[in-house]
Amino acid sequence: MANEQDRMERIVALAKRRGFIFPGSEIYGGLNGFWDYGPLGVELKRNIKDAWWHDVVTTRDDVVGVDAAIIMNPKVWEASGHVGGFTDPRVDCKKCKSRFRQDEQRGMAERVTTVISFFQADEQRELEFALHKAVDAVWAAGMTAKEAAAKNGIEGTFFLQVLKAAEKGNWQQSGMLSLLNVCRNCGGELTEPRQFNLMFKTFVGAMEDSTSQAYLRPETAQGIFVNYKNVLDTSRMKLPFGIAQIGKAFRNEINPRNYTFRSREFEQMEIEFFCRPEEADKWYATWRQARFDWYVGLGLKSDRLRLRDHEKDELAHYAKACADIEYAFPFGTSELEGVANRTDFDLKQHQQFSGRDMTYFDDETKERFLPYVIEPSGGVDRALLAFLCEAYDEDEAPDENGKAQKRTVLRFHPRLAPIKVAVFPLVKKDGMPEKARVIYEACRKNLSAFYDEKGAVGRRYRRQDEAGTPFCVTVDGQTMEDGTVTIRDRDSMKQERIPADGVLAYVRERLHL
Ligand code: GAP
Repeated sequence: MANEQDRMERIVALAKRRGFIFPGSEIYGGLNGFWDYGPLGVELKRNIKDAWWHDVVTTRDDVVGVDAAIIMNPKVWEASGHVGGFTDPRVDCKKCKSRFRQDEQRGMAERVTTVISFFQADEQRELEFALHKAVDAVWAAGMTAKEAAAKNGIEGTFFLQVLKAAEKGNWQQSGMLSLLNVCRNCGGELTEPRQFNLMFKTFVGAMEDSTSQAYLRPETAQGIFVNYKNVLDTSRMKLPFGIAQIGKAFRNEINPRNYTFRSREFEQMEIEFFCRPEEADKWYATWRQARFDWYVGLGLKSDRLRLRDHEKDELAHYAKACADIEYAFPFGTSELEGVANRTDFDLKQHQQFSGRDMTYFDDETKERFLPYVIEPSGGVDRALLAFLCEAYDEDEAPDENGKAQKRTVLRFHPRLAPIKVAVFPLVKKDGMPEKARVIYEACRKNLSAFYDEKGAVGRRYRRQDEAGTPFCVTVDGQTMEDGTVTIRDRDSMKQERIPADGVLAYVRERLHL
């Protein structure tokens, strides 16, 4: 397969072509950072959420769920620190008004700064000026890196590499233009870095002033913390126990990018697991591993996944430990989920800001204290993107004439596959459609099934391979004689004959449903 960028482009094209993911409000030109899920995408997303809920709530007796409102009392966000601290430094272009995160301007720019700092002060200014002109020459006048370097008296392999990055148009990657204080879109001058709050603001009620201002939640976690006492009082949970929630979160990301990876509207799956402070290290280790294993169990190969423990200087001020579960996407290795020991920070903050007692009373030891919290916090959209990237494969399959043809296949884990079984009549006559429909009806009452009678059967197989359907059932001439059908396995492409009335049991057994 071609390089990773090419692979990503194919995945994006397939996701659009087959109705997994569409750009949000596409007919109006879309809206940066917003995505819509189509018929197959929504099934895949539901399967991910169902698998998560099943594995961390339904099958555990120490975790219960909540579904809190998206818009909460604005004091919540003061207590959580989001009003004061949920900011990213950003720079704006004075000319075209583009906005960039300052941290994305680092990288090559830092290296350039370091190299330049070895020069004498007057040479530094000259060099920066020469680089600036050389970049302009490459960019505006279309010179090669070598020509621009020669014209502006720039020497040395390092600076030539910088200009080559400019030549290839790798502006984002090089981050070089921030050094030159130049916008990577239009070459305009950039402002000084400014803090930018990532929360979307809205107004509650008729008045649009500061007294009615509220926020779309930037994380689901706070909806759990504010309900911790309600759950404790109503569900008879005892420490250690967790509260789980799946729901939408909104962040006005400065630079949405990498397809759905960094969006402005996304879904989170979060657990806040409350425990005694002295048991927090143990529960942190347990959840850190359990969450990693969950992704592996659903098909992410462990060599593309890694657990990266945060360095001490990376930790949020309230966190005692944090690990990111990262996946090697075609565009780079990035975070899928974070597992953190948040100590008693959040409950303490809400106790202080709300004036409500957030302590836990232990009936047995007669102690009263604030529990510690372990938080596994994952993104549904990022998980979906990782499962999609992992599942994408290209191989060859014989066509109707036995000739090998390229095939695109999504090798989803059966629990995640949007459609579990497709049923086809070989031809649209001789009673085959009627028989196929009976099988389809029996299947779809129990699992997600699809019926298709259009086009050559080989093409129908291919369409299901692209959708990631694990099994295809075909009713043919022999079915009408002996009541058997063929069932084809998506991955091996092997077919076997089984009784038509045994299809549902066969699929269920193999999918462990
Ligand atoms: N309560 C902790 C919290 O929200 P986070 O690391 O900011 O922590 C948790 O977010 C998860 O939410 C991330 O690991 C990621 O999967 C998902 N997420 C965060 N920002 C996102 C974005 N802009 N687009 C898509 N998913 C995002």
